[in-house]
Amino acid sequence: MRLDKFICSCTLFTRTEAKKIIKKGVLVNGVVVKNVDYKIDEYVDKIEVNGEVLNYKKFIYIMLHKAKNIITATEDNFHKTVVDLLKEEDKILNPFPVGRLDKDTEGLILLTNDGELSHKLLSPKKDIDKKYYVEVNGELTFDIQNIFLNGIVIDDGYKCKSAKLEILSSDKKISKAYITISEGKFHQIKRMMRAVDLEVTYLKRLSIGNLVLDNKLKLGEYRYLTEEEINKLKI
Ligand code: URA
Repeated sequence: MRLDKFICSCTLFTRTEAKKIIKKGVLVNGVVVKNVDYKIDEYVDKIEVNGEVLNYKKFIYIMLHKAKNIITATEDNFHKTVVDLLKEEDKILNPFPVGRLDKDTEGLILLTNDGELSHKLLSPKKDIDKKYYVEVNGELTFDIQNIFLNGIVIDDGYKCKSAKLEILSSDKKISKAYITISEGKFHQIKRMMRAVDLEVTYLKRLSIGNLVLDNKLKLGEYRYLTEEEINKLKI
């Protein structure tokens, strides 16, 4: 890995700042290096900046509060993506979104470069719960609650896994609920609601497994996961 990239990955320095630091001299295994594109082995070499040894951070874990009109992808020619919302220094380790939310869905997105964790969270065999807040344009009834619990059949004939619907309020014009699903088919909640003749008018993801969206994060904001959150997700 390039020395400047390494410094950015384990400090809060930007690439430009890292380059300036290197030009003044950084110790690589005790030898002064001033060449920004000097290649190091991040697992073996000892890098010191201002007398401090840098520990290589291999993985990055970010929770982001996605707003509408942002695409859950790493790049897109026409729209802003969740990765575009990250500062340059937070993109260095190439985090990618785990799973996807529709363009008009808000809420929790996990971004990481930890392929193993991503695979675990997305694996249909693992049944990881995803909880959403949903608003629909008609009544939510106990019948619908039971139909979802028993697995509703959607437009393509697929029988969804059991889903938990917690009705918060129900009215002919608008109903509000929490819905927890353990799979992630394309437009799943919208299609489940359509199967009972309802349209989703608002959807927001609140949690993935035991990772809960931090309510201090405003739309479009993000933060690093704490050690505790990372460890709980890996269980
Ligand atoms: N279900 C949907 O219909 N859309 C999402 O974005 C997530 C779940």
